Formats: sequence, C-alpha cells, structure tokens
Amino acid sequence: MSNMHNSFQDRVAMITGAASGIGKAVAIKMAEQGCQLCLVDLNRELLTELEKQLSPQTKIMIFCGDVTEPTFIQTVVEQIGKQFGRLDFALNNAGITSAAKGIADIELAEWQRVMDVNINSLYYCMHYQIPLMQQLNGGAIVNMSSMLGLIGTKNRAAYVTSKHAVTGMTKAVALDYADQNIRVNSVHPGYIETPLIAHIDHEALITKHPVGRLGTAEEVAALVNFLFSDEAKFITGSQYVIDGGYSIQ
Ligand SMILES: NC(=O)c1ccc[n+]([C@@H]2O[C@H](COP(=O)([O-])OP(=O)(O)OC[C@H]3O[C@@H](n4cnc5c(N)ncnc54)[C@H](O)[C@@H]3O)[C@@H](O)[C@H]2O)c1
Repeated sequence: MSNMHNSFQDRVAMITGAASGIGKAVAIKMAEQGCQLCLVDLNRELLTELEKQLSPQTKIMIFCGDVTEPTFIQTVVEQIGKQFGRLDFALNNAGITSAAKGIADIELAEWQRVMDVNINSLYYCMHYQIPLMQQLNGGAIVNMSSMLGLIGTKNRAAYVTSKHAVTGMTKAVALDYADQNIRVNSVHPGYIETPLIAHIDHEALITKHPVGRLGTAEEVAALVNFLFSDEAKFITGSQYVIDGGYSIQ
C-alpha cells in the first residue's frame, strides 16, 4: 500500500454499512491515507474479508451487528474510545431500499424497518459519536442520503421519506455543533453500481442519467473523502449531489 497519501495518518473513522458498495469503497480510500478504521456491518463474511484485505497496514476494528440496535451502536463507540482514544470521522451509510409499491400497499413492518435502518440509526450513531468527537475538539460526519433525499420518485415512499429525513437531520445537527468544530454534511448519489440496486433493470436506469452511465462506489468515496478532509473545513450542513445530472432534469 502506498505511503504517499497520508493525510488521514493516525486519525480514526467509523463507517456503517462498510462491508459492501459505497461504505467499502470509502473504507479502502481512507485506509490508503493512513486512517484507522472501525467498520460496522450486518454481513460478517464480507466484513471479515475486508478486514483481511486492509490489515495489517491499517489498524482495524470490525463490529458485526445491526445499526438499528442503540445498545450495539453505544458499545461500538465505547470500544472506539477505549481502543483508539479518538473519533475524527463518521460515515453513517448503512441503508436499505424499499420495494416498489404505492403507500397503500406498504406493510407497517416494512415501513418501520426502512425508517429504523435509514434514519433512526443516524440518531443512535450521531448521539454517541458526537460526544467522542467533542473530547478531541472536533470532527466531521457524512450522512448517506440519496438524490431521493431531495426529489421524489414513484412507488418508493418509504425510501424517499427516510432519505429526506437524512437531509433535514443533517442540517439540524450541523447547526447544533457548528461552533464546536464538528461538521455534518449529506451526500446524495444517483444510481450507483452496487449490490443494493442489483435487482433493478440497469438499461432503464442508465437512460435516466444524462452522462449515460451509472456511478461507481469509488466516485462517491472520492466525494466523501473530500468532505472529511481539511479542504472542506468551511463546509457544513450542505447537500452534495453526485448523480450524473439525473436530478437537474
Ligand atoms: N447504490 C445506489 O444506487 C445508492 C444511491 C443513493 C444512495 N445510496 C445509499 O448508499 C448507502 C450504501 O448503499 P450501497 O449502494 O453501498 O449498498 P450495499 O447494499 O452495497 O451496502 C450496504 C451495506 O449496509 C449493510 N447494512 C444494511 N442494513 C444494515 C443494518 N441494519 N445494520 C448494519 N449494516 C447494514 C449491508 O449489509 C451492506 O453491506 C445506503 O444508505 C443507500 O441508501 C445508494
């Protein structure tokens, strides 16, 4: 691994949904820059694989569990405090889609699960992450929304609602801590080639992106990396769209 890019040397990042797709791409990019990682995901197999790929060059803790469990998140952040003694960055990224149907057909349990994973988990995460960041005099948080956190689409009420909530929560929390050197921003991807959208017809999706293709997880990781970096130190409470022009039409 290259030692040339070490701008995050000895800093610590917590990433949820780290075992796949966008979260994994961010973990790899941060590791390349010397960042120490706490990776959280439901999928133990993929998480262990990524740990093997990145260690021993990168100091890593992995936690297999569900971000909808507040006591799990509390334990994860406590362990970061004990073992790393600091938390500089958090990518709150674990998320699920909702099945394509109108709101009259969405079961209550399905609705609640989407809200639990996509929005309530961000309360648990930031509730515990911020006090650890305060001990260090600052930090940066990126919450993973979607372009569907800024615009609507047909038959995705649960997902669209949850991602709009991420947008609003990010603005509110950014204001709460702006004077404490904790920056909080949201990222809003169009369709990105990850397992999350494997079930959706790609040809139909591609035509909706003016650039003529879907995005890659690495492209989103580059944006997240910028928002964590000191280059972005005047940026807080902002919504960063990365969608190949989809949502400007
Ligand atoms: N792929 C896209 O087109 C796209 C577009 C806009 C926004 N997003 C958002 O990006 C984020 C990451 O998506 P991705 O495309 O990388 O998907 P992905 O399915 O490749 O990765 C998501 C990861 O989150 C984990 N996860 C899901 N629920 C969890 C839970 N309850 N607890 C812990 N881990 C959990 C999964 O195991 C998986 O490893 C999501 O919030 C998603 O809504 C994705």
